[in-house]
Amino acid sequence: LTPENQTILSASEWLTKLYHHLLRYTKDGKEGYQYFKDRGISDEIVDLFQLGFAPNVKDFTAEFLKKKGFHQQVLVKAGLLTLQEDGNVTDRFRGRVIFPIRNHLGKTIGFSGRTVVDQEPKYLNSSESELFQKGKTLYNFDLAKKHIRKQNEAVLFEGYMDVISAYQAGIKNGIATMGTSLTENQAKLLKRYVDTVIICYDADDAGIDATFKVASLLRKIGFQVKIANLKNNLDPDEFIKQYGADSFINEVIKASHTYMSFYMRYLKKNYNLSLEGDRIKYIETVLKQIAGIESSVEREYYLKELSNEYNVTMDTLVEEIQAHRQKMG
Ligand code: UTP
Ligand code: MN
Ligand code: MN
Ligand code: MN
Ligand code: MN
Repeated sequence: LTPENQTILSASEWLTKLYHHLLRYTKDGKEGYQYFKDRGISDEIVDLFQLGFAPNVKDFTAEFLKKKGFHQQVLVKAGLLTLQEDGNVTDRFRGRVIFPIRNHLGKTIGFSGRTVVDQEPKYLNSSESELFQKGKTLYNFDLAKKHIRKQNEAVLFEGYMDVISAYQAGIKNGIATMGTSLTENQAKLLKRYVDTVIICYDADDAGIDATFKVASLLRKIGFQVKIANLKNNLDPDEFIKQYGADSFINEVIKASHTYMSFYMRYLKKNYNLSLEGDRIKYIETVLKQIAGIESSVEREYYLKELSNEYNVTMDTLVEEIQAHRQKMG
Protein backbone atom coordinates (compact mmCIF):
# COMPACT_ATOMS: atom_id res chain seq x y z
CA LEU A 1 0.00 0.00 0.00
CA THR A 2 1.40 3.42 -0.94
CA PRO A 3 1.66 6.09 1.79
CA GLU A 4 -1.01 8.03 -0.06
CA ASN A 5 -3.43 5.11 0.05
CA GLN A 6 -2.63 4.60 3.72
CA THR A 7 -3.68 8.21 4.29
CA ILE A 8 -6.90 7.73 2.34
CA LEU A 9 -7.76 4.59 4.30
CA SER A 10 -7.12 6.42 7.53
CA ALA A 11 -9.31 9.38 6.49
CA SER A 12 -12.05 6.97 5.36
CA GLU A 13 -11.92 5.27 8.75
CA TRP A 14 -12.33 8.61 10.52
CA LEU A 15 -15.24 9.54 8.26
CA THR A 16 -16.98 6.21 8.77
CA LYS A 17 -16.86 6.79 12.52
CA LEU A 18 -17.83 10.45 12.25
CA TYR A 19 -20.88 9.91 10.02
CA HIS A 20 -22.01 6.94 12.07
CA HIS A 21 -21.61 8.82 15.35
CA LEU A 22 -23.54 11.81 14.01
CA LEU A 23 -26.42 9.62 12.90
CA ARG A 24 -26.56 7.62 16.06
CA TYR A 25 -26.00 10.15 18.81
CA THR A 26 -26.38 13.75 17.61
CA LYS A 27 -28.97 16.28 16.49
CA ASP A 28 -26.99 16.92 13.30
CA GLY A 29 -27.59 13.32 12.24
CA LYS A 30 -31.16 12.89 13.44
CA GLU A 31 -32.57 13.12 9.93
CA GLY A 32 -30.48 10.14 8.93
CA TYR A 33 -31.41 8.16 12.01
CA GLN A 34 -35.09 8.79 11.33
CA TYR A 35 -34.61 7.78 7.70
CA PHE A 36 -33.42 4.29 8.61
CA LYS A 37 -36.07 3.98 11.36
CA ASP A 38 -38.73 4.73 8.75
CA ARG A 39 -37.26 2.02 6.55
CA GLY A 40 -37.49 -0.49 9.40
CA ILE A 41 -33.76 -0.87 10.04
CA SER A 42 -32.88 -1.67 13.68
CA ASP A 43 -30.16 0.07 15.71
CA GLU A 44 -28.21 -3.17 15.77
CA ILE A 45 -28.09 -3.32 11.98
CA VAL A 46 -27.32 0.41 11.70
CA ASP A 47 -24.32 -0.25 13.94
CA LEU A 48 -23.20 -3.41 12.18
CA PHE A 49 -23.18 -1.72 8.76
CA GLN A 50 -21.85 1.51 10.28
CA LEU A 51 -24.56 3.50 8.54
CA GLY A 52 -24.17 7.23 8.90
CA PHE A 53 -25.30 10.70 7.98
CA ALA A 54 -23.39 13.54 6.30
CA PRO A 55 -24.96 16.86 7.35
CA ASN A 56 -26.08 19.34 4.73
CA VAL A 57 -23.21 21.71 5.41
CA LYS A 58 -20.78 22.97 2.77
CA ASP A 59 -17.53 22.04 4.50
CA PHE A 60 -18.36 19.91 7.51
CA THR A 61 -16.20 16.99 6.40
CA ALA A 62 -13.48 19.23 4.98
CA GLU A 63 -13.11 21.06 8.32
CA PHE A 64 -13.18 17.83 10.32
CA LEU A 65 -10.41 16.24 8.27
CA LYS A 66 -8.37 19.45 8.29
CA LYS A 67 -8.46 19.44 12.10
CA LYS A 68 -7.27 15.85 12.03
CA GLY A 69 -4.24 17.01 10.10
CA PHE A 70 -5.06 15.60 6.66
CA HIS A 71 -3.88 17.44 3.56
CA GLN A 72 -6.82 18.34 1.37
CA GLN A 73 -5.08 17.57 -1.89
CA VAL A 74 -4.98 13.86 -1.12
CA LEU A 75 -8.63 13.83 -0.05
CA VAL A 76 -9.72 15.57 -3.24
CA LYS A 77 -7.82 13.04 -5.27
CA ALA A 78 -9.54 10.25 -3.32
CA GLY A 79 -12.93 11.77 -4.06
CA LEU A 80 -13.70 12.35 -0.39
CA LEU A 81 -13.79 16.12 -0.97
CA THR A 82 -14.63 18.19 -4.05
CA LEU A 83 -12.46 20.94 -5.50
CA GLN A 84 -14.66 23.77 -6.81
CA GLU A 85 -13.85 26.06 -9.72
CA ASP A 86 -13.20 28.95 -7.32
CA GLY A 87 -10.49 26.84 -5.66
CA ASN A 88 -12.51 26.13 -2.51
CA VAL A 89 -12.66 22.58 -1.22
CA THR A 90 -16.12 21.38 -0.19
CA ASP A 91 -17.79 18.19 0.98
CA ARG A 92 -18.78 15.60 -1.58
CA PHE A 93 -21.58 14.13 0.54
CA ARG A 94 -24.12 16.60 1.92
CA GLY A 95 -27.47 15.84 3.47
CA ARG A 96 -27.20 12.16 2.60
CA VAL A 97 -27.32 8.92 4.56
CA ILE A 98 -23.98 7.20 4.21
CA PHE A 99 -23.22 3.58 3.39
CA PRO A 100 -19.53 2.88 3.99
CA ILE A 101 -18.20 0.48 1.35
CA ARG A 102 -15.87 -2.04 2.94
CA ASN A 103 -13.31 -4.23 1.23
CA HIS A 104 -13.01 -7.97 1.97
CA LEU A 105 -10.96 -7.16 5.08
CA GLY A 106 -13.64 -4.89 6.48
CA LYS A 107 -11.78 -1.62 5.79
CA THR A 108 -13.77 1.29 4.38
CA ILE A 109 -12.52 2.08 0.88
CA GLY A 110 -15.36 4.34 -0.27
CA PHE A 111 -18.84 5.64 0.45
CA SER A 112 -22.24 5.74 -1.12
CA GLY A 113 -24.56 8.54 -0.05
CA ARG A 114 -28.31 8.24 -0.55
CA THR A 115 -30.50 11.29 -0.76
CA VAL A 116 -33.20 11.55 1.90
CA VAL A 117 -35.17 14.15 -0.07
CA ASP A 118 -35.45 12.70 -3.60
CA GLN A 119 -32.47 14.49 -5.12
CA GLU A 120 -30.57 13.31 -8.18
CA PRO A 121 -28.62 11.13 -8.20
CA LYS A 122 -30.39 8.85 -5.73
CA TYR A 123 -27.07 7.28 -4.76
CA LEU A 124 -23.84 9.25 -5.02
CA ASN A 125 -20.75 7.05 -4.90
CA SER A 126 -17.12 7.84 -4.18
CA SER A 127 -15.19 8.31 -7.38
CA GLU A 128 -13.05 5.46 -8.67
CA SER A 129 -9.50 5.37 -7.40
CA GLU A 130 -6.68 2.93 -7.02
CA LEU A 131 -8.20 2.00 -3.68
CA PHE A 132 -11.87 2.02 -4.65
CA GLN A 133 -12.62 0.07 -7.82
CA LYS A 134 -16.28 -0.75 -8.28
CA GLY A 135 -15.55 -3.62 -10.63
CA LYS A 136 -13.48 -5.33 -7.97
CA THR A 137 -15.63 -4.68 -4.92
CA LEU A 138 -18.56 -6.70 -3.62
CA TYR A 139 -20.66 -4.94 -1.02
CA ASN A 140 -20.79 -6.82 2.31
CA PHE A 141 -18.40 -9.56 1.20
CA ASP A 142 -16.40 -9.23 4.41
CA LEU A 143 -19.40 -10.04 6.63
CA ALA A 144 -21.03 -12.51 4.24
CA LYS A 145 -17.91 -14.59 3.52
CA LYS A 146 -18.21 -17.05 6.39
CA HIS A 147 -21.93 -17.59 5.77
CA ILE A 148 -21.30 -18.06 2.05
CA ARG A 149 -18.71 -20.74 2.81
CA LYS A 150 -20.84 -22.50 5.38
CA GLN A 151 -23.94 -22.65 3.18
CA ASN A 152 -22.02 -23.04 -0.10
CA GLU A 153 -24.43 -20.48 -1.46
CA ALA A 154 -24.29 -16.73 -2.04
CA VAL A 155 -27.23 -14.43 -2.69
CA LEU A 156 -26.56 -11.65 -5.17
CA PHE A 157 -28.62 -8.46 -4.80
CA GLU A 158 -28.85 -5.24 -6.81
CA GLY A 159 -28.75 -2.74 -4.00
CA TYR A 160 -27.15 -1.98 -0.65
CA MET A 161 -30.55 -1.70 1.01
CA ASP A 162 -31.49 -5.15 -0.26
CA VAL A 163 -28.36 -6.65 1.32
CA ILE A 164 -29.02 -4.86 4.60
CA SER A 165 -32.74 -5.72 4.80
CA ALA A 166 -32.04 -9.33 3.89
CA TYR A 167 -29.33 -9.51 6.54
CA GLN A 168 -31.78 -8.21 9.12
CA ALA A 169 -34.28 -10.83 7.93
CA GLY A 170 -31.71 -13.58 8.51
CA ILE A 171 -30.18 -13.96 5.04
CA LYS A 172 -26.57 -13.22 5.93
CA ASN A 173 -24.85 -14.55 2.81
CA GLY A 174 -25.97 -11.59 0.69
CA ILE A 175 -23.71 -9.38 -1.41
CA ALA A 176 -24.22 -6.73 -4.10
CA THR A 177 -22.31 -5.03 -6.85
CA MET A 178 -21.83 -1.28 -6.77
CA GLY A 179 -24.67 -0.33 -9.10
CA THR A 180 -22.70 -1.77 -12.00
CA SER A 181 -23.10 -5.16 -13.59
CA LEU A 182 -21.09 -8.05 -12.19
CA THR A 183 -17.64 -8.29 -13.75
CA GLU A 184 -15.76 -11.44 -14.65
CA ASN A 185 -13.21 -10.39 -12.05
CA GLN A 186 -15.83 -10.34 -9.28
CA ALA A 187 -17.34 -13.63 -10.41
CA LYS A 188 -13.97 -15.39 -10.36
CA LEU A 189 -13.21 -14.06 -6.91
CA LEU A 190 -16.54 -15.39 -5.70
CA LYS A 191 -15.89 -18.78 -7.32
CA ARG A 192 -13.06 -19.37 -4.88
CA TYR A 193 -15.59 -19.42 -2.05
CA VAL A 194 -18.79 -20.87 -3.43
CA ASP A 195 -20.41 -22.96 -6.18
CA THR A 196 -24.01 -21.77 -6.10
CA VAL A 197 -25.30 -18.24 -6.57
CA ILE A 198 -28.91 -17.22 -6.08
CA ILE A 199 -29.65 -14.13 -8.13
CA CYS A 200 -32.14 -11.93 -6.30
CA TYR A 201 -32.40 -8.82 -8.46
CA ASP A 202 -35.35 -6.45 -8.58
CA ALA A 203 -38.42 -8.01 -10.21
CA ASP A 204 -38.79 -5.14 -12.70
CA ASP A 205 -37.88 -5.23 -16.41
CA ALA A 206 -34.39 -3.85 -15.84
CA GLY A 207 -33.80 -6.38 -13.08
CA ILE A 208 -34.98 -9.30 -15.18
CA ASP A 209 -32.73 -8.31 -18.09
CA ALA A 210 -29.81 -7.94 -15.73
CA THR A 211 -30.61 -11.35 -14.23
CA PHE A 212 -30.06 -12.98 -17.62
CA LYS A 213 -26.81 -11.19 -18.25
CA VAL A 214 -25.44 -12.11 -14.83
CA ALA A 215 -26.75 -15.67 -15.03
CA SER A 216 -24.96 -16.39 -18.29
CA LEU A 217 -21.70 -14.93 -16.98
CA LEU A 218 -21.95 -17.00 -13.80
CA ARG A 219 -22.76 -20.16 -15.75
CA LYS A 220 -19.80 -19.56 -18.03
CA ILE A 221 -17.54 -19.47 -14.98
CA GLY A 222 -19.02 -22.73 -13.71
CA PHE A 223 -21.52 -21.70 -11.06
CA GLN A 224 -24.79 -23.42 -10.33
CA VAL A 225 -27.23 -20.56 -10.81
CA LYS A 226 -30.60 -20.20 -9.13
CA ILE A 227 -33.08 -17.37 -9.51
CA ALA A 228 -35.00 -16.09 -6.50
CA ASN A 229 -38.77 -16.22 -6.69
CA LEU A 230 -39.48 -12.48 -6.47
CA LYS A 231 -42.49 -11.04 -8.22
CA ASN A 232 -44.85 -8.11 -8.65
CA ASN A 233 -42.16 -5.59 -9.52
CA LEU A 234 -40.88 -5.55 -5.96
CA ASP A 235 -37.29 -5.36 -4.92
CA PRO A 236 -36.12 -7.60 -2.05
CA ASP A 237 -36.21 -4.79 0.50
CA GLU A 238 -39.77 -3.86 -0.47
CA PHE A 239 -40.81 -7.51 -0.34
CA ILE A 240 -39.45 -7.96 3.18
CA LYS A 241 -41.17 -4.79 4.34
CA GLN A 242 -44.48 -5.88 2.81
CA TYR A 243 -44.54 -9.61 3.58
CA GLY A 244 -42.01 -10.13 6.37
CA ALA A 245 -38.82 -12.10 6.93
CA ASP A 246 -40.36 -15.59 7.01
CA SER A 247 -42.05 -15.15 3.64
CA PHE A 248 -38.85 -13.81 2.18
CA ILE A 249 -36.82 -16.78 3.38
CA ASN A 250 -39.36 -19.46 2.47
CA GLU A 251 -41.18 -18.11 -0.56
CA VAL A 252 -38.40 -16.12 -2.23
CA ILE A 253 -34.98 -17.54 -1.29
CA LYS A 254 -35.77 -21.19 -0.55
CA ALA A 255 -38.24 -21.30 -3.45
CA SER A 256 -35.59 -20.22 -5.96
CA HIS A 257 -35.97 -21.63 -9.48
CA THR A 258 -33.32 -23.37 -11.49
CA TYR A 259 -31.93 -21.16 -14.20
CA MET A 260 -33.57 -23.21 -16.95
CA SER A 261 -37.05 -23.26 -15.50
CA PHE A 262 -36.84 -19.51 -14.99
CA TYR A 263 -35.63 -19.10 -18.55
CA MET A 264 -38.36 -21.29 -19.99
CA ARG A 265 -41.07 -19.36 -18.20
CA TYR A 266 -39.61 -15.96 -18.98
CA LEU A 267 -39.17 -16.74 -22.66
CA LYS A 268 -42.83 -17.67 -23.00
CA LYS A 269 -43.75 -14.01 -22.73
CA ASN A 270 -42.28 -13.40 -26.20
CA TYR A 271 -44.39 -16.03 -27.94
CA ASN A 272 -48.03 -16.81 -28.56
CA LEU A 273 -47.83 -20.48 -27.83
CA SER A 274 -51.27 -21.24 -29.21
CA LEU A 275 -49.81 -20.61 -32.68
CA GLU A 276 -47.90 -23.54 -34.11
CA GLY A 277 -45.21 -21.35 -35.70
CA ASP A 278 -44.51 -19.60 -32.41
CA ARG A 279 -44.51 -22.89 -30.55
CA ILE A 280 -41.86 -24.32 -32.85
CA LYS A 281 -39.69 -21.21 -32.50
CA TYR A 282 -40.05 -21.33 -28.74
CA ILE A 283 -39.04 -24.99 -28.54
CA GLU A 284 -36.07 -24.33 -30.84
CA THR A 285 -34.86 -21.46 -28.67
CA VAL A 286 -35.19 -23.46 -25.47
CA LEU A 287 -33.42 -26.43 -27.08
CA LYS A 288 -30.45 -24.24 -27.90
CA GLN A 289 -30.20 -23.26 -24.24
CA ILE A 290 -30.53 -26.85 -23.06
CA ALA A 291 -27.80 -27.87 -25.48
CA GLY A 292 -25.42 -25.64 -23.52
CA ILE A 293 -25.93 -27.54 -20.26
CA GLU A 294 -22.94 -29.69 -19.32
CA SER A 295 -24.71 -32.34 -17.26
CA SER A 296 -26.55 -34.97 -19.32
CA VAL A 297 -28.83 -35.70 -16.38
CA GLU A 298 -29.88 -32.08 -16.28
CA ARG A 299 -30.35 -31.95 -20.06
CA GLU A 300 -32.63 -34.95 -19.95
CA TYR A 301 -34.63 -33.44 -17.12
CA TYR A 302 -35.48 -30.33 -19.13
CA LEU A 303 -36.06 -32.26 -22.35
CA LYS A 304 -38.66 -34.35 -20.54
CA GLU A 305 -40.30 -31.17 -19.28
CA LEU A 306 -40.47 -29.84 -22.85
CA SER A 307 -41.62 -33.15 -24.23
CA ASN A 308 -44.49 -33.38 -21.77
CA GLU A 309 -45.56 -29.79 -22.06
CA TYR A 310 -45.56 -29.56 -25.86
CA ASN A 311 -46.31 -33.10 -26.89
CA VAL A 312 -43.09 -33.64 -28.77
CA THR A 313 -41.50 -37.08 -28.54
CA MET A 314 -38.25 -37.42 -26.61
CA ASP A 315 -36.70 -39.02 -29.73
CA THR A 316 -37.28 -35.87 -31.76
CA LEU A 317 -35.93 -33.61 -29.03
CA VAL A 318 -32.85 -35.76 -28.46
CA GLU A 319 -32.10 -35.77 -32.18
CA GLU A 320 -32.43 -32.00 -32.32
CA ILE A 321 -30.26 -31.41 -29.33
CA GLN A 322 -27.50 -33.65 -30.61
CA ALA A 323 -27.41 -31.59 -33.79
CA HIS A 324 -27.02 -28.42 -31.68
CA ARG A 325 -24.30 -29.90 -29.54
CA GLN A 326 -22.34 -31.00 -32.59
CA LYS A 327 -22.52 -27.46 -33.97
CA MET A 328 -21.22 -26.15 -30.64
CA GLY A 329 -18.27 -28.55 -30.87
P1 UTP B 1 -32.10 0.82 -7.20
O1 UTP B 1 -32.61 1.98 -7.96
O2 UTP B 1 -32.78 -0.49 -7.35
O3 UTP B 1 -32.09 1.32 -5.73
O4 UTP B 1 -30.55 0.69 -7.50
P2 UTP B 1 -32.41 0.55 -4.40
O5 UTP B 1 -31.24 -0.29 -4.03
O6 UTP B 1 -33.73 -0.11 -4.48
O7 UTP B 1 -32.43 1.79 -3.40
P3 UTP B 1 -33.57 2.32 -2.45
O8 UTP B 1 -34.33 1.16 -1.92
O9 UTP B 1 -34.44 3.24 -3.25
O10 UTP B 1 -32.81 3.06 -1.40
C1 UTP B 1 -29.79 -0.44 -7.13
C2 UTP B 1 -28.35 -0.05 -6.89
O11 UTP B 1 -27.85 0.70 -7.99
C3 UTP B 1 -26.93 1.69 -7.55
C4 UTP B 1 -26.81 1.51 -6.04
O12 UTP B 1 -25.73 0.63 -5.80
C5 UTP B 1 -28.13 0.87 -5.69
O13 UTP B 1 -28.06 0.17 -4.46
N1 UTP B 1 -27.37 3.06 -7.87
C6 UTP B 1 -28.70 3.36 -7.99
C7 UTP B 1 -26.43 4.05 -8.02
O14 UTP B 1 -25.21 3.79 -7.92
N2 UTP B 1 -26.84 5.33 -8.28
C8 UTP B 1 -28.17 5.66 -8.38
O15 UTP B 1 -28.49 6.84 -8.58
C9 UTP B 1 -29.11 4.64 -8.24
MN1 MN C 1 -22.04 2.12 16.70
MN1 MN D 1 -33.36 -1.58 -9.61
MN1 MN E 1 -34.16 -1.60 -6.02
MN1 MN F 1 -35.15 -0.50 -2.90
